[in-house]
Amino acid sequence: MLKLSGLNVGYGKVMVVHDLAMEVRTSELVSLVGANGAGKTTLLKTISGLIKAQSGVIEFMGDTIINLDPYQIVERGLVQVPEGRKLFPHMTVMENLELGAYTRAAKQSRAANMEKVFNLLPDLKAKIKQTAGTLSGGQQQMLAIGRGLMTNPKLLILDEPSIGLSPRLTQTMFEIISQIKDQGVTVLLVEQNVHHALGMANRGYVLEQGRIVLQGGGHELLHHEHLKKAYLGM
Ligand SMILES: Nc1ncnc2c1ncn2[C@@H]1O[C@H](COP(=O)(O)OP(=O)(O)O)[C@@H](O)[C@H]1O
Ligand SMILES: [Mg+2]
Repeated sequence: MLKLSGLNVGYGKVMVVHDLAMEVRTSELVSLVGANGAGKTTLLKTISGLIKAQSGVIEFMGDTIINLDPYQIVERGLVQVPEGRKLFPHMTVMENLELGAYTRAAKQSRAANMEKVFNLLPDLKAKIKQTAGTLSGGQQQMLAIGRGLMTNPKLLILDEPSIGLSPRLTQTMFEIISQIKDQGVTVLLVEQNVHHALGMANRGYVLEQGRIVLQGGGHELLHHEHLKKAYLGM
């Protein structure tokens, strides 16, 4: 579904992502893990067309998308839930959700998507009239995911959804992501929470200083010596 190869991305002369190759196949949940500053968000912004790569190929559903504008990429069904949620705090939960349904495909299936979101995130339904800024951190993250689902994604990309959440909410959040995958949405999950993210992934990639240093099955990676030492303190 998504295929990257030979990707190089930087800010001015400072290169951040180096000769990167990875892929996400239809119906997979793929986790990309790496420490703070590894280049995860830079990579995701490049996939979404917000940053232009210096060189390389990005293909989505068989088409090259590297020269498309961000809105054209979203129209094709590649939807990102950004790091830090980026909600409209003074608008209600309902209004934030509706803002997700701006693409042609999403407008057509707006009612059905709304129902799916409320089934998946029942806590949100009780709060539709509240402004987003009054929600807890966990609820705001759920709302950001809900808004992403309203955009009718074929591929949903999540940038560090567990950041700032309590262990209990983190657990809930990963369960919700697992349900999204079970409903047929392909997911690329980007996380520093290596244990959870790889534990639930079909496949994973480890990013260090802008390079993929390890890849493989999620459980296989969790048992890799380098990963255990560098990320799990074992
Ligand atoms: N807008 C920017 N301008 C210059 N450098 C940046 C910018 N955004 C991020 N960087 C740098 O790129 C590197 C990777 O950052 P980032 O992609 O945010 O990593 P991660 O998401 O893995 O924490 C860091 O060294 C960071 O300082
Ligand atoms: Mg980041």
